[in-house]
Amino acid sequence: MRLKGKHAIVTGAAAGLGEAIARRFAAEGAMVTCLDLNMDGAVAVAEALPNARAGRVDVGSEEDILAAIEAATETFGTPDIVVNSAGIGLQRAALKTTAGDFEKIYRINVIGSFLFCREVAKRQIEAGLHGSLINVASVAGLRGSAGRVAYGASKAAAINMTQVMANELGAHRIRVNAIAPGPVETDMVRKMHDAKARETWVRSMPTGEYGLPQDIADTALYLASDESRNVYGQVIAVDGGFASSGLIFDVD
Ligand SMILES: NC(=O)c1ccc[n+]([C@@H]2O[C@H](COP(=O)([O-])OP(=O)(O)OC[C@H]3O[C@@H](n4cnc5c(N)ncnc54)[C@H](O)[C@@H]3O)[C@@H](O)[C@H]2O)c1
Repeated sequence: MRLKGKHAIVTGAAAGLGEAIARRFAAEGAMVTCLDLNMDGAVAVAEALPNARAGRVDVGSEEDILAAIEAATETFGTPDIVVNSAGIGLQRAALKTTAGDFEKIYRINVIGSFLFCREVAKRQIEAGLHGSLINVASVAGLRGSAGRVAYGASKAAAINMTQVMANELGAHRIRVNAIAPGPVETDMVRKMHDAKARETWVRSMPTGEYGLPQDIADTALYLASDESRNVYGQVIAVDGGFASSGLIFDVD
């Protein structure tokens, strides 16, 4: 039980990576606050866990975020862990991308995650907790992939936000780290990856296959647990080798 007695907030917990993370944390003894815009989905996940509560939050709303953290704290105490997994994707050519696309995706993928980090860190400092804040970024924030001008820029911003927060909060022993998943079969990917994108992804990874939600949940568990006690401001790519690879071909 690597998270026994810890309170973890997981955003985007109704589906995909957030759901897998919430389940993994609960299996390791955490009390889990499952937050999502999709309240029915969050309730379904929370009800299947031993010690969890669901809440509705739009991570694009500061008011919602403050209220959700307050309610979570009343139920399970100051959060030890936050995982910002709620996010939206966009596959659109740069020349067709609008200012509105950028503003919407930044609001949810960057500012929402930042506000959770800021507000929970304040409470952790007050409570003297050595917390762990985890942002789910993307390999799209590490490389300039076609169609990802707004999404990739939002994830690159989330990565730098992680590094700055880790720098400023390190003295309080609050760790802020990011995970950069490669492609994992979830609702988001089913919407964003057409046949051409899938074929290109598969060719761009030495493993030649999409990852599993469990891969991301295992990494989140490492970053949430004391095993990563001296890890600050890191971005862990969990991507079948995508971000570290150049040419991929069979060598004789
Ligand atoms: N699946 C992948 O291959 C992949 C790869 C790289 C990064 N990511 C990132 O991982 C995170 C999770 O992605 P996923 O694949 O699980 O997506 P998903 O669409 O399956 O799940 C995302 C969840 O976030 C919730 N959500 C969306 N907007 C919200 C909002 N404004 N407020 C609250 N909740 C909101 C949705 O309701 C949903 O339950 C995202 O940040 C995504 O960018 C995913």
